[in-house]
Amino acid sequence: MPRNRTGDRASEAPGAELAARTRNKNGRLRLLLTLPVLAFLASCSGSGPQSALEPKGPIARDIDGLWDLVYWLAVAVFIMVTALLVWAMWRYRERPGDETEPKQLHGSAAIELGGVVFSVVLLAIISVPTVRGLLDMRQVPEGDDVIQIQVTGHQWWWEFEYVDETGPDGATLITANELHIPEDATVYLTMTSADVIHSFWIPAVNGKRDVVPGQVTNLTIIADDPTSPDEPLPGQCAEFCGLAHADMRIKLHVHTDADYAAWLDEQFQPSQLPAEESELAAGWSTFNTVCTTCHQVSLEDVEGEVVTYGPERHIAAADIQFRSSFGPNLTHLFSRGTFGAGTVELTESHLAEWIGDPQSLKPMNPDENDLAAGRVLGMPDTGLNADEISEVIELLKTWR
Ligand code: CUA
Repeated sequence: MPRNRTGDRASEAPGAELAARTRNKNGRLRLLLTLPVLAFLASCSGSGPQSALEPKGPIARDIDGLWDLVYWLAVAVFIMVTALLVWAMWRYRERPGDETEPKQLHGSAAIELGGVVFSVVLLAIISVPTVRGLLDMRQVPEGDDVIQIQVTGHQWWWEFEYVDETGPDGATLITANELHIPEDATVYLTMTSADVIHSFWIPAVNGKRDVVPGQVTNLTIIADDPTSPDEPLPGQCAEFCGLAHADMRIKLHVHTDADYAAWLDEQFQPSQLPAEESELAAGWSTFNTVCTTCHQVSLEDVEGEVVTYGPERHIAAADIQFRSSFGPNLTHLFSRGTFGAGTVELTESHLAEWIGDPQSLKPMNPDENDLAAGRVLGMPDTGLNADEISEVIELLKTWR
């Protein structure tokens, strides 16, 4: 409604204008109240399992300490600025009969210089521990007891190779998605990607670090205490990398030294290749025809020789560095608690569902797979019938 300045419609103007102004004021007041209420409610979600504010190791604790420092400094600045503002509004409010303006401070050298010096001092307080922390975190850890692990990011799963640990046959240990380390050990990850940029992030033990194709990046992780087997520390890919980015998880199992040694020992016990006349032979025949197109598995035959079956033929065609498999190594599949890049609990029924229709449990783009070009975007439909699936699962169950 146009403002009534001329008085032409004076009879209707005052009431309507007042109502409009009140409506406006109410709307603004509601908005003003809604924002802090929303912010407050957002804090009620509790801390998720992947909180960087619940560090479980010295490096993550340093990061958390920095967060605390910045947070409390920000709180102090907020309180100070708000208090000054409220004080100024109150002290210099307009009183009835006020004739003169309060003294104007625009251009006051003392106040402007004070503001600059205050900000510089505050930023220096924050930057010194920040830079020191960054330099500390980037240091290459030295010593014989540092555990070296090669990490390869794939669309959409993680491959871990324990490059220091070789089994009886001289091969290194390769596993997927579930990372096992001993407590208090310094673990140095050397990382690269087989396809696009990923980011390795287990918030309880360190910040995130990009995992880049054609480049090597590193990250040191240390965890204080052993985790219980069904509650590993969760992590996930933190760089958008396509359809199943959110399902590219990591589970970090932390062991006592003795349990870690026992775990390594078990991983180096070879899984068995079924004998030709065994009841697992049918499952193996299916597995070796269909599954080894992408998955690698190392098996000991009846003569005690360990042979690796897998997609080497395609890999040679694709000539891709660092890639040992197009899918997770399955030699000790049933020693894991999960599959599908840490997203599905490993049970026989889940596995049957997965082999029958992988997309039902994790969205992927297998239609775009091109093994010869080294491109794999998920597990394709296997086309196996229910009997073949249960034969394969009976076999997989022996690979612990
Ligand atoms: Cu890998 Cu996101």
